[in-house]
Amino acid sequence: MTSGCDERAWLNEVVVGNMTQSDLDEVLAIEHQSFPSAWSRSSYERELRNRNSYYLTARHGDAVIGYFGMWVVLDEAHITTLAVHPSYRRRGLGAHLLAHLMELARRRGASRVTLEVREGNHAAIAMYRKFGFEPKGVLPGYYGDTKENGVVMWKVISSRGQTGHVH
Ligand SMILES: CC(C)(COP(=O)(O)OP(=O)(O)OC[C@H]1O[C@@H](n2cnc3c(N)ncnc32)[C@H](O)[C@@H]1OP(=O)(O)O)[C@@H](O)C(=O)NCCC(=O)NCCS
Repeated sequence: MTSGCDERAWLNEVVVGNMTQSDLDEVLAIEHQSFPSAWSRSSYERELRNRNSYYLTARHGDAVIGYFGMWVVLDEAHITTLAVHPSYRRRGLGAHLLAHLMELARRRGASRVTLEVREGNHAAIAMYRKFGFEPKGVLPGYYGDTKENGVVMWKVISSRGQTGHVH
């Protein structure tokens, strides 16, 4: 039997941990290769100070190879960013990070998770759909740089009151 598990075994070597100021050079390098309008260093610095924010990086050896950001306010988690270094894409890391994010959201008391994504970002939309996110609305011209529409996606992760059972 060919094993998808073997192809993903490398993920066991990936360490996911809190993003710090010293990660920002590498984060910004990935950011510029991943988004038409990259966030600035000061945007990340502000996010790292936000007490409702969770910003984590994925490291392989010494290198930052991906990251995500999320806000959790009351029972709602909002994915603010998620990116994988171009050289590491299509090897399961995006899904690995998203699974980590969802678990963190659940542990922090979120019962639903939302995000906005560019309408033409088929890779990301496919990934979110695979995790059960559903498109619930369109934001016309949401992205100021290209005027591209934003798709709002949602996923319910647990009903209210269940979160206490998750450690
Ligand atoms: C979206 C992104 C994070 C996916 O990361 P990745 O590590 O390549 O994703 P994975 O290998 O874990 O793939 C997970 C699923 O996503 C989907 N997917 C990923 N890349 C895809 C592509 N190029 N085309 C179609 N589907 C794709 C597939 O459903 C895939 O599942 P599969 O491997 O079983 O087919 C990555 O492409 C990226 O960093 N893009 C730029 C930043 C970005 O757009 N972020 C999302 C903003 S909301």
